[in-house]
Amino acid sequence: MPVGTLPGDGRASGPNRVEALDFTHTGPGALAGRYLRTFWQPVFVAADLPAGRSVPIRIMDEQLTLYRGETGTAHLVAFRCAHRGTQLSTGWVEGDDLRCFYHGWKYDATGQCIEQPAEPEPFCGRISIRAFPTEEYIGLIFAYLGEGQPPLLPRYPEFEDSDSALEAGRADWPCNFFQRNENTPDLTHVAFVHRQSSPAIPRMESATETDFGIAVSVSYPDGSASTARLQMPNKSQFRLPPRSADEVRGRDNVFWRVPVDDDNHVSFSATVMHLTPEAARQAADKPRIANGADHLQRIRELGDSVLAGAAHISDVMQGPYDRVTIMEVQDYVSMVGQGNNVDRGLDHPGRADLGIVLLRKVWERELQALADGRPLTQWDRTPLPGP
Ligand code: FES
Ligand SMILES: [Fe+2]
Repeated sequence: MPVGTLPGDGRASGPNRVEALDFTHTGPGALAGRYLRTFWQPVFVAADLPAGRSVPIRIMDEQLTLYRGETGTAHLVAFRCAHRGTQLSTGWVEGDDLRCFYHGWKYDATGQCIEQPAEPEPFCGRISIRAFPTEEYIGLIFAYLGEGQPPLLPRYPEFEDSDSALEAGRADWPCNFFQRNENTPDLTHVAFVHRQSSPAIPRMESATETDFGIAVSVSYPDGSASTARLQMPNKSQFRLPPRSADEVRGRDNVFWRVPVDDDNHVSFSATVMHLTPEAARQAADKPRIANGADHLQRIRELGDSVLAGAAHISDVMQGPYDRVTIMEVQDYVSMVGQGNNVDRGLDHPGRADLGIVLLRKVWERELQALADGRPLTQWDRTPLPGP
C-alpha cells in the first residue's frame, strides 16, 4: 500500500457505500454506533454505584438511566419517564423498581410501568420504557445496547483467580473514542510522548490482522522488539510487570475505549494483580476503584494547562507527580491535542502508521458488512502476553 494513501479510498461504491472513515459517530442511528452496539460495553464502575442509587449516564451518544436496586442488581433503562418526560435518574429506587420523581409512575427493571398512583383507572399495561441487559463483572457494569439477543459477555479467566486483587477505573477525556483506539497500535508515540521511559525510535516491522483484531510489531535499535495488540472493536489488553513483592506475576489489564458522545469518551479499565496467598488474604474489599475523581481532575487540569500554553509538558515532568500521572498527562496532551474529533481525511499516515491504517481498514470492512447485511467477523479474545 502506498504510504500516504488510506485503504478504502475509491474502493467501495454503490448505494450502501460506507461513508469513508466514519468511525466516530456512534449515536443509535449511526453505522459505527450500530456496530459498537453489537458488543457488550462497560458503562460504569461498579463500586461507584451503591444500592438504591440512580444516575444519568451518556454512552454512545445516548442518554440513559442506570440504577442499582436495593437487592444489589444494576439495571439500565431509558433516560426519561413515559408520562411527561422528566429525568428518571431523579426518582426513587424501590426494591428493583424505579419510581419517577414527578408524579410517581413506577417502572420495573424490564421497563414495564407497574404503577400510576394518580390515575383512577391505571393504564400501566400500555406503558413501557426501554430497558437493556446488564451484567456486573470484574468491577464494571456492562450493558448490551444492541438489538436482539445479546452475545455472551466475554470472560477473563485470569481475572477470576482467588489469589488476586482487582482494580476497576474510568478516565473521561474530551476527545472521540477512536483517537484513543488508534493510540493502541501507535508504538512510535512512546519515543516522543513518553520520552523519559523509552526514547528509542522503533522501526515498523509488521501490522497484521489476527483472530482477535490487529497486532503491530516493532523493533528497536538495541535489537529488542515490542508488539501492541488491539482487540476489535475498541479494546486494548496487555500484561505489565509486577510492581511489588506481593505480586507473583505480571498485572493483566483490559481497557475499553467507550464513546460518551462524538466529542468525548471514557476509558474503562480493569486490572488484576496476582498476589501471594498471604497478600491476597490481606487485600481489602475488592474490587477497588483505580484512579479516583481527584486523580482524573488533576490529569485534565495539567493536560489542559499544557494545551492552553500556560505550561509545557517539561514543567509537568519536573513537577511533584508520580510516573503514572505524568504518563497519563502526556497521553492526554497528545490525543486531546488532536482536537475533539480529528478529521482523518486531512491526515498523512506514513509507514510508521501501518497499524493505524490497518485498524481503519478493518473497521471500514466491518461497517461495510453491517451496511450490506452481511455477517460480521466473530473476534476471539486476545491472549494476554507478557512476563
Ligand atoms: S413525568 Fe414521570 S410520572 Fe409524570
Ligand atoms: Fe502513551
